[in-house]
Amino acid sequence: MTSEFMIYLAPLQGFTDFVYRKVYAGIFQGVDAYFIPYITVQNAAILKKYEREILPQNNPQNRVVPQILAKDEEEVRFLSEILVHYGYTEINLNMGCPYPMVTKRGRGAGLLPDLEQVYRILNTYFEHFDSALSVKLRAGLESPGEIERIVPVLNEFPLKEVILHPRIARQLYKGETIDMAVDFAAKNLKHPLGYNGDIFSLEDYHRKARQFPEIKNWMVGRGVLMNAFLPSEIMGIQLNEDEKRTALFQFHQKMLEEYLETTDNPGNALNKMQQFWSYFSYHFENQAKAFKRIKKSKQLALFKAEAGSIIGTERLCREST
Ligand SMILES: Cc1cc2nc3c(=O)[nH]c(=O)nc-3n(C[C@H](O)[C@H](O)[C@H](O)COP(=O)(O)O)c2cc1C
Repeated sequence: MTSEFMIYLAPLQGFTDFVYRKVYAGIFQGVDAYFIPYITVQNAAILKKYEREILPQNNPQNRVVPQILAKDEEEVRFLSEILVHYGYTEINLNMGCPYPMVTKRGRGAGLLPDLEQVYRILNTYFEHFDSALSVKLRAGLESPGEIERIVPVLNEFPLKEVILHPRIARQLYKGETIDMAVDFAAKNLKHPLGYNGDIFSLEDYHRKARQFPEIKNWMVGRGVLMNAFLPSEIMGIQLNEDEKRTALFQFHQKMLEEYLETTDNPGNALNKMQQFWSYFSYHFENQAKAFKRIKKSKQLALFKAEAGSIIGTERLCREST
């Protein structure tokens, strides 16, 4: 389907892993691009778990964008070389990760106050690589005013786009989003601007789309984990309740099969599935009860029975009926 705007699946470390992305893409409609959670350097190498995430055979969707978390130009080169080697023609740079363990080392949102470092990183990237580069940005590390200083630096390079999560790092993923940061970026960035943050329902999407008419690309994270139908709803595709339950059954079944295949033992697969349910349970009106039943299911057979019963009989949430 061609449309004026695009929906991106946000990268969420531990949730939108290659299993999730692959299974999701096989069942649901509406996502135009899948962003891989960041890969980063540790002891001059990348961890096996990151390698699995970027292997081309694990990423069969049309448009998949890997993300790098780096503190300087050496790390950027090291990680980008790996990604280019695997054939990626588009890379995303993380300038938004808010966690102090990351920002204190000058990565993620920790890059934002250091304009010279950002300049060096981008300069090095464009000197060495032909693959497109986009940036996922926060409004600031300490203050939303930081965006005013970073935008001119970003404007000096041919970025493919900038996706803004309009919060400062201290807020993590909670509290008011900062509309002024979006307005400033929309007016002053010379690159296409994408929006990310707190789109949990069709109404949220429409409200933001009205508020920021210049934005074409929308990145959605938790909203998709909590309502797998949200991207298709945004595209105007409506499913009835039976179709939804069938899709949720399939999704769940396939996720479990894949985790059983890709983790070392059934216990690990069960842990992954329980983590998946921390958001998946929001498909049901009584989310808390559904999640409690899942958390109590300490054995795979019990888990399967509980999950099947919830998906088959619990009332679906208003948003997804
Ligand atoms: C558990 C978790 C893991 C995340 N991992 C990443 C990541 O690897 N890279 C990144 O750029 N953002 C990451 N994020 C941020 C999301 O991509 C997104 O910006 C955030 O959830 C806000 O969007 P949403 O309101 O649509 O969920 C993560 C967020 C959460 C909650």
